[in-house]
Amino acid sequence: MDLIERIAEVESQCLRAIEGSRTEGELALVDNRYLSKKGALSELLKALKDVPPEQRPKVGARANEAKTKLEALIGTRREGFQSRALEEKLNSERIDVTLPARKTPAGSLHPVTLVISETTAIFRRLGFELSEGPEIDTEFHCFDALNIPPDHPARDMQDTFYLPREVKENVVLRTQTSTVQIRTMLAKKTPPVRILSPGAVFRSDYDMTHSPMFHQIEGLYVDRNVSFAELKGCLLFFAKEMFGPDAKIRLRPSFFPFVEPGAEVDVWFKNRANPEGGQKEGQWLEILGAGMVHPEVFRAVGFDPAKVSGFAFGMGVERIAMLKYGIPDLRLLFENDVRFLRQFAGS
Ligand code: PHE
Repeated sequence: MDLIERIAEVESQCLRAIEGSRTEGELALVDNRYLSKKGALSELLKALKDVPPEQRPKVGARANEAKTKLEALIGTRREGFQSRALEEKLNSERIDVTLPARKTPAGSLHPVTLVISETTAIFRRLGFELSEGPEIDTEFHCFDALNIPPDHPARDMQDTFYLPREVKENVVLRTQTSTVQIRTMLAKKTPPVRILSPGAVFRSDYDMTHSPMFHQIEGLYVDRNVSFAELKGCLLFFAKEMFGPDAKIRLRPSFFPFVEPGAEVDVWFKNRANPEGGQKEGQWLEILGAGMVHPEVFRAVGFDPAKVSGFAFGMGVERIAMLKYGIPDLRLLFENDVRFLRQFAGS
């Protein structure tokens, strides 16, 4: 058998082997066995040196032709295996878009946050702007400028958290948001001032209805000829917006060093839960302190009390939340039990 015939025979053996391979791995073995450097075809060509020189180009060309053809076939078959594997993988990993989705619970706003944002929205309609101050503040902003003298019980160590002397002297965790009145008037220098200031305050107090940290919302309106009647009007508007159209307010004379006259304000609101069930139809509850800004406060910030007047009020946010949502225990607001918080979703 001459060399050309032997090439043809190896070629057809290889062809059958290619067709018989069932995996990419088997195909690689065929490739190796027939076409690699030590493969069957190369082995055959070692005999080329025994071929008469004039015939060598013809034999060589035949061998190359076989090699090119077989390589092309192997390439095509390999691609076939690969695309089949890819398709199988895609099929087995297919996502079933008709399966019901896993629920992601949306969070809910904390009742304290709800009351703050609702209150701010109500007063914004009356032209009050948001103004915030620091929770750690000086005794000057928290007491002195607010006409609270050094021997006032509010400054007592039992009520007020002081920063340790070694850290800084005369610095406290603010006990009331009234600090922001002082800061705003000092910064603005001239009226009008019309601000609302929500935030955390701190007092050394802890029981069923008191927490060492709670929230207040301060309001301040200073201009020429601001009257007590306007204060009442503002608060009544707020009460009706917050607690419903039947809400009423009642002012009881009271004392705060930074206002004169001063009042405690109660809100009457309807018992919606059980209006007929032998319960009182509604009830009065104290929710804020208010009054006309004291001349001493104006002097402390460089405003002339003969030319300007104003009113201020401060309300307890947790108190309002408890009233509005019927929460019986203040501590529920700070425990952050999700079963409690979840009830405010969508409020
Ligand atoms: N700051 C007072 C308090 O904490 C409330 C208040 C504010 C009263 C403004 C009058 C005017 O009790």
